[in-house]
Amino acid sequence: MSSLRKNIAVIFGTRPDTIKLAPIILELRKHPHFRVITIATAQHRHMLDQVLDVFKIKPDFDLDIMEPKQSLAKLTKNSIAALDDVLVETKPDMVLVQGDTTTTFVGSLAAFYRQIPVGHVEAGLRTQDKANPFPEEINRRLTSCIADLHFAPTSTAKRALLKENIRSENVIVTGNSVIDALRYSIKKVYNFPDRRLNEFVKERRRIILLTMHRRENWGTPMTGACEAVKKLVSQYPDDRFVFPVHLNPIVREVVYPILDGIENVVLIEPLPYSDFVNLMARSYLILTDSGGVQEEGPSLGKPILVLRTITERPEAVKSGTVKLVGLDPTRISATARRLLDNATAYRQMANATNPYGDGHASRRTIQALQHFFGFSKKMPSEFRPR
Ligand code: UD1
Ligand code: UDP
Repeated sequence: MSSLRKNIAVIFGTRPDTIKLAPIILELRKHPHFRVITIATAQHRHMLDQVLDVFKIKPDFDLDIMEPKQSLAKLTKNSIAALDDVLVETKPDMVLVQGDTTTTFVGSLAAFYRQIPVGHVEAGLRTQDKANPFPEEINRRLTSCIADLHFAPTSTAKRALLKENIRSENVIVTGNSVIDALRYSIKKVYNFPDRRLNEFVKERRRIILLTMHRRENWGTPMTGACEAVKKLVSQYPDDRFVFPVHLNPIVREVVYPILDGIENVVLIEPLPYSDFVNLMARSYLILTDSGGVQEEGPSLGKPILVLRTITERPEAVKSGTVKLVGLDPTRISATARRLLDNATAYRQMANATNPYGDGHASRRTIQALQHFFGFSKKMPSEFRPR
């Protein structure tokens, strides 16, 4: 058994990978077997900093590679060169990456080139359609090829990895650390810095929360979804539609011309994570194409309509809290109207279920790392939803 502390380099760069790695970083920091090196590509700048503020994490290395409307190739090129320099300087014993962003894939590739073992958090999500989500389906498949240790959030994800001939002793079902982050952040009483949000809660308005950003939805699908929302908004003047708009200019160029200036629509800047999840907890209905929001909603008992044609997160669709509505404007507004008009249909969807985690994913991840490095003989017991 090794007695030396192991250096774990955690690489992140966007809003979602940082939210999901934050609880693991905080746990790792407390652990006597490990020393953490935090490396931010800063693929996102402002949205990353918002998350780092909430979890009080200051990266040891900040590569600051974001550029407006950066192409995927340029993002890849800039981040791999900068990551390689840091890996050469810090010589970690393992690199941890999360999910399916370009930072995830490039982080794992940079580690592979330097022959550093890779741990992949949230491994095994698949749609089996390389165009959906684009480019994430390929990012995560490529990361699975490289990773040495795979932290699958659910048993479905583990099965997908085993089908790809990944050895079962290198896969552990941990649950998703997004639920650890959620538990850290949800408060019974919450004061939103934006006073309008406090008023909606106080006035007991139904809040319909929206998010959209996926690349495969850019252009016509996103325009259609916004038009569907615009129609809905006019039919429910007493409800409040809150849309924190992603900072990607390509998204903003679609959303603002259609939805700005309407009385019961609030277009706002991306919310800090704690504001966002506390707003989710106080919302009536959520429409989104986000991955993370699909995992958080069920845990909060909120019906989610997913603005995508396919999802790599089938668990909550099966348990009934999430509906895949696609991007057909008629279907989006009809499904939303049914939930807004019909209390029985609403209640059938609004069940709190936890197919994605129990808040202990970080602990299991660290125990699996202890096993990997020979600090403990046993892998932890796996997450099983109740
Ligand atoms: C990226 C991830 C996607 C993830 C999403 C979460 C890739 C290829 N895509 O989306 O998997 O679901 O993040 O949000 O890794 N911008 C800012 N400030 C910010 C963030 C973004 O100005 O804080 C603007 C910049 O102009 C940037 C653009 O948004 O170039 C797009 O950023 P990018 O990381 O390419 O986002 P997506 O690919 O849309
Ligand atoms: N989120 C946030 N502020 C917002 C919108 C979303 O903090 O204004 C959080 C949300 O709670 C979830 C994560 O961002 O944990 C999801 O990120 P995003 O939708 O950008 O990416 P995806 O999960 O689709 O990769």
